Amino acid sequence: MAHFQSYKVCVAPMMEWTDRHCRFFLRQISRHCLLYTEMVTTGAVIHGDRDRLIGFDPAEHTVALQLGGSDPGALAECARIAESWGYDEVNLNVGCPSDRVQSGRFGACLMAEPDLVARCVGAMQDAVSIPVTVKSRIGIDDQEEWPALKGFVDAVAETGVTRFIVHARKALLSGLSPKENRDIPPLRHDLVHRLKAERSDLTILINGGITTLDAAEEHLDTLDGVMLGRAGYQNPFILADVDRRFFGGPAGAVTREQIVERMLPYIEREMARGVPLKAMTRHMLGLFQAVPGAKVWRRHLSENAHRPGAGPDVVETALSLVRRQATAAAA
Ligand SMILES: Cc1cc2nc3c(=O)[nH]c(=O)nc-3n(C[C@H](O)[C@H](O)[C@H](O)COP(=O)(O)O)c2cc1C
Repeated sequence: MAHFQSYKVCVAPMMEWTDRHCRFFLRQISRHCLLYTEMVTTGAVIHGDRDRLIGFDPAEHTVALQLGGSDPGALAECARIAESWGYDEVNLNVGCPSDRVQSGRFGACLMAEPDLVARCVGAMQDAVSIPVTVKSRIGIDDQEEWPALKGFVDAVAETGVTRFIVHARKALLSGLSPKENRDIPPLRHDLVHRLKAERSDLTILINGGITTLDAAEEHLDTLDGVMLGRAGYQNPFILADVDRRFFGGPAGAVTREQIVERMLPYIEREMARGVPLKAMTRHMLGLFQAVPGAKVWRRHLSENAHRPGAGPDVVETALSLVRRQATAAAA
């Protein structure tokens, strides 16, 4: 399904976080932003339980599958699978720094092997007609950032790939945990802007440390897209104004209550398929962040969603507790 520049605002691939339930939930908040799956390795896609690993609800469109791997043949096969499952885009992870990923020779360590990445994405492009994109860092370890980023993008763009998402910090592959690698190396947004200035023919998206739509809008003055990671997950209501601000959607954003109400039939349906309530509510904990009722919402869901027999009524009760608190706060 082709969509107009949905990549203008997207929510990042995040392991353990952006699973199908999370994406369905986020889609109730913004109809247009582009959503990414968690990274799935080529081995898992080829040999694993595909429905569990890459299955998704049609309501999630526009949705991109992120792959982890470095074997051109396997990546081409997975890209083909992604296309046949209905994904709108397939993305290669060149940013993940975890040990497990390095031993498989993929993720951020591939920043040091632009020619291999070019062969990978070249094979993926030959295999499919959906867009093939790359998410990278600005460099790794002792690489000098600008030459590393520019050299990497130039080499990969030779294959005809045109869309790059750049997490604007280095990854330090030894010594820092994946979490530290998202916080400690300094953000260099300026390098992503420089990349766009020098390669205006490419579609360049920026990622890393963007926490407000005002900041996103500023980047969009010159860049083609903004990818929100943690902010989009931990404070998902930030997405409620995305459609109006960036996609020409109607004024009057959806309310938090409407989002919860939209989730109820989904929760019922998924529970009937055997999905535990908690697998869905865990992604909804941040919905009332920074408004009255945030704490009672979070607490009621956390304390009750895992109980045997827990159903959608747990969510309804949490919502009524929030309403009560909001009324009290307004009085
Ligand atoms: C829990 C978590 C899991 C992540 N998993 C992935 C992943 O699977 N693939 C990937 O490319 N990046 C992954 N990332 C990195 C994010 O996509 C993003 O690049 C990073 O969080 C910086 O953006 P932010 O500052 O807006 O959060 C993950 C980040 C978090 C917090």
